Amino acid sequence: MTTAEVRHTYLEFFKAREHSEIPSAPLVPENDPTTLFTSSGMQPLLPYLLGEKHPSGVRLVDSQKSFRAEDIEEVGDNRHTTFFEMLGNWSLGDYFKSEQLPWFFEFLTKEIGLDPQKLYVTVFSGDEKLGITKDEESIEIWKRIFKEEGIDAIAVDIGTEADGYARGMREGERIFAYEAKKNWWSRSGTPEKMPAGEPGGPDSEVFYDFGTAHDTAFGEHCHPNCDCGRFMEIGNSVFMEYIKKSDGSFEKLPQQNVDFGGGLERIVAAANDVSDVFCIDSLYGIITEIESLSGKVYGENEEESAAFRIVADHFRGAVFMIGDGVVPSNTEQGYFVRRLLRRAVLKMDTLEMEPHTLHTLVPIVIQQYEAQYPNLRAQKDVIQKNIEEEEARFRKTVERGLKEFEKRSGENISGRDAFVLFTTHGFPIELTLELAAERGITVDMEGFRSEMEKHQALSRAGAEQKFKGGLADGGEKTTMYHSATHLLLAGLRKYLGEDVHQAGSNITTERTRFDFTYPEKVDRETLDKVEQYVNDAIKAQAEMTIEEMPKEQAKAEGVEGSFWEKYPEVVKVYTLRDANGVVWSRELCGGPHVSNTNEITGVFKIVKEESSSAGVRRVKAVLE
Ligand code: SER
Repeated sequence: MTTAEVRHTYLEFFKAREHSEIPSAPLVPENDPTTLFTSSGMQPLLPYLLGEKHPSGVRLVDSQKSFRAEDIEEVGDNRHTTFFEMLGNWSLGDYFKSEQLPWFFEFLTKEIGLDPQKLYVTVFSGDEKLGITKDEESIEIWKRIFKEEGIDAIAVDIGTEADGYARGMREGERIFAYEAKKNWWSRSGTPEKMPAGEPGGPDSEVFYDFGTAHDTAFGEHCHPNCDCGRFMEIGNSVFMEYIKKSDGSFEKLPQQNVDFGGGLERIVAAANDVSDVFCIDSLYGIITEIESLSGKVYGENEEESAAFRIVADHFRGAVFMIGDGVVPSNTEQGYFVRRLLRRAVLKMDTLEMEPHTLHTLVPIVIQQYEAQYPNLRAQKDVIQKNIEEEEARFRKTVERGLKEFEKRSGENISGRDAFVLFTTHGFPIELTLELAAERGITVDMEGFRSEMEKHQALSRAGAEQKFKGGLADGGEKTTMYHSATHLLLAGLRKYLGEDVHQAGSNITTERTRFDFTYPEKVDRETLDKVEQYVNDAIKAQAEMTIEEMPKEQAKAEGVEGSFWEKYPEVVKVYTLRDANGVVWSRELCGGPHVSNTNEITGVFKIVKEESSSAGVRRVKAVLE
């Protein structure tokens, strides 16, 4: 089965069970300063899991583009990727365990054709401290499900991952209970790590058994959560019914939710019984192109295979990211695109690929994905240009770094020098090591690591401070900025014309940054007028109303919106109207807002206007 077939089958399966399909949110969350990327299907749905009414109903299904920056270093084995699609089905206070588990099993065995004998499941073993007991209900459901297939599934308590490696698994065992580290899900991880106000819950995962021999390098015995590659997790049903309170205890949410997430690529791999996700159609297409550009054959040796996977994964991730408006830079999301592309270039060289050819892989990715993500085709030139330029820039950096390196050659490289080469000259440590090896000199890696740690500790301290501010009063402040941003767009459209639309936005507790379509610099006089408009709206005490209506109706009524294709069939229209009936802003949205502009404190000021990219301007504004 192809990636497109599995995606389609999944969406149809749940649509036939009264789920509404919702589009994928962009990779960069809008108006959420606490996180850089959408890394699970759950993130964009947070308000609805907490009880807000979703315009598409209580049963939803989607395939969400996701990016996990923390997995960059893991890429290279046969199953980790940074970018992936997460299939998701959602019950917002509707069905629960006894529907979810049989449905997912039915999907896997009847629709995808997986052999039930190859499926193993895990459940939550309970946590006394939290007063949350073992998930006996899921165990009973799983036993019933397997029984119907003629399989007597034995359930066993494992506990920790280490216990799993020590004990292994015995004949007939199929249901494994693990502690919270493995079978509890929230955005922040285990119950202890969750901040107050965060929802989460026990989960039940399904693993596919590829039947390969256990590799004792990972631990003495194999078990479903073992990393040797025999088992691969292909789906996670989270029973999201708890919320953490400020005293650290847990209470039930007003509604019982199901948050299911399954890695599309992994399910396709299982469907084809190939343990290497890079062998499924959507990734193998890229691998084949790399083969022809490098003259090497994938799968011939481990080191080269890892390089193939890194180029393919990082490249695809960068294409999607640029498609969603992120360009290589040194900060925030842009930094990750840069890192992806630069690592890909290093691995291109390992494979002896022709330099300056990375961008020629763009068409194959677009071809694989355009039916589901038409924005990729529309952005093709921008994507190609950015990748081509970044490769060239990086190769220049490396050239300059080489000169710096040469200045030091002859003697061993100190940790400090390796650090300076890396941070000041952008010269990757991998290259320093490689060149040193060629010249028979050493690199003080311990010294390098300690310099890096010092450096990271400093930037972490900065980040923590930012995060703290974000959480302490984050809710209110960002809400104000969010509503002020609607007024800003209305003001810009009033003075610059109806061709102005939102091209992106990023809100923190300290400012709003807003990108909009406009061909040239906006003069200060106009900016002053726009500022005045926003401040007048604040004074006018305009009320916010939220209406739901069909997307077509909203379009016909001239409601302002960009990214229309991103919205579901029924949209929410946010209108700010004062007591005299004056409409100050009317726009599609989904996020949190003030209920009256008089809740916005401070004077609105546009502090910066600059170019963002071709045809797009960027302003920064504050409430002082
Ligand atoms: N939120 C869960 C996950 O990301 C399931 O969707 O694994």
